[in-house]
Amino acid sequence: MVIVLAAGGGTRMKSSRSKLLHEVAGHSLLGYSVSAATEIGPEEVVVVVGHQRDQVQAHLAEIAPHVRTAVQEEQLGTGHAVECGLAALADLAQLPPEIVVTYGDVPMLTSETLLDLLFEHRTQRASVTVLTATIADPTGYGRIVRDTDGHVARIVEHRDADDETRAITEINSGIYVFDSATLEAGLGQLDTDNDQGELYLTDVLAYARSIGGAVAAHRIADHWQTEGINDRVQLSAMNAEMNRRILLDWMRAGVTILDPATTWVHSSVDLAPDVTLLPGTSLEGATSVAAGATIGPEVTLKDVEVGEGATVVRAHAELSVIGPGADVGPYARLRPGTRLGAKGKIGTFVETKNAQIAEAAKVPHQTYVGDAEIGRGANIGAGVIFANYDGVNKSTTVVGDYSFVGSNSVLAAPVVVGDGAYVAAGSTITGDVGSGDLGVARGRQRNIRGWVLRKRAGTKVAAAAQEALDSAAGTSDETPAAREAKESNGR
Ligand code: UD1
Ligand code: CA
Repeated sequence: MVIVLAAGGGTRMKSSRSKLLHEVAGHSLLGYSVSAATEIGPEEVVVVVGHQRDQVQAHLAEIAPHVRTAVQEEQLGTGHAVECGLAALADLAQLPPEIVVTYGDVPMLTSETLLDLLFEHRTQRASVTVLTATIADPTGYGRIVRDTDGHVARIVEHRDADDETRAITEINSGIYVFDSATLEAGLGQLDTDNDQGELYLTDVLAYARSIGGAVAAHRIADHWQTEGINDRVQLSAMNAEMNRRILLDWMRAGVTILDPATTWVHSSVDLAPDVTLLPGTSLEGATSVAAGATIGPEVTLKDVEVGEGATVVRAHAELSVIGPGADVGPYARLRPGTRLGAKGKIGTFVETKNAQIAEAAKVPHQTYVGDAEIGRGANIGAGVIFANYDGVNKSTTVVGDYSFVGSNSVLAAPVVVGDGAYVAAGSTITGDVGSGDLGVARGRQRNIRGWVLRKRAGTKVAAAAQEALDSAAGTSDETPAAREAKESNGR
């Protein structure tokens, strides 16, 4: 059984959002606490909510529908919060023998640490076991006061402590295992005789001692695991530390990270060996990168699957798939629903959305591909627009296998360009183009002979024209009529 205390205000975040919903490495503070609690396999996880509880409950329903919530209307102290948690379990025939108490705002705490704490509790046959850490600046924390035998005697809050007690650097993390009978009895004995006038859960330890129980402590070296988040300065420090650890783990698993200072990887990301991450890379959500791929510099991928050996340079992609050996960027934007096939290319200043771009198809330059299916090996010229929106409806464009769409064309959806078809450069295609056909949809070219010499006489342009015409006349024996015939044949 785990009770997660999460009713406090978090006013120092200065946020309209509950403190517990702020994120570290892509997951909410509360998400980490609930995951660690759930991973130890308890009968129940109860989260005690209070401040901004609508937000907190909605978030829990999304990320951890298995947890119960207990409401603490007024924050009368950590002891009162645990009482509220127990009240929410009143329907149980009986409480399990061990109750773990943690906080909703300690994201680094792991389930391994909770299991170590339980192990200590059981081997010491303790009534209460508290997780402690020794830190350089213990200001604000409850201090672990030990008796002459070194056993934990009680916990004294900073504000209730004298100078001698304040000099103690071993602090209470606020994370404990309680024998449930001792906890219930101890909560019943709490008073508000302290500086804050609150019901202190910490007083249950002194109570346990007073009835002859043993109080054990499990001290961990990794103080980050006991660190709570109260403001955005701490949030930033926690993000940096979490990211540092995530990157270390990936480097040890065979990922090259050129500049850890500018590389950010969420805890939910999956990377294969021989992935290379270049400076300014941010991998978020459920992103996965297969072996040998190179990401960066300056790339953000959110919920993106990258295949083996792909290259992604200066790009922003979301909910997309980049196939093995594919090439993206520099300066590309892949919006949700982009699927780039093996060895495909999405090049420079290209934006895609809901677009299937099959194996070896190429969209190399300055193009918008919205709501499209592009076939295998097709080539989309520079500056092509897949016009998917007529102001009312969005429609799909299909370009068949090995087709070639000339530069500066507009494909006004819905339209189908068949397999092995061509679209002439500069066309605005509004009707289907059959397989093997060339679609041309543009004004025919007309040259107005001698226009410059007549209308721009005396300019440098006219002088250049005159010079070219003179030298052509001197070197060529082509008659003006022959020249004209040749030009119109060329089209
Ligand atoms: C508490 C401990 C202190 C410990 C510190 C570790 C007590 C009396 N003190 O102090 O020994 O060093 O945590 O961070 O327990 N909460 C509720 N309802 C309440 C009060 C608190 O749910 O009525 C929750 C808060 O949301 C928070 C946690 O309990 O997650 C701790 O509360 P907080 O007020 O931060 O306790 P501290 O005074 O810091
Ligand atoms: Ca606190």
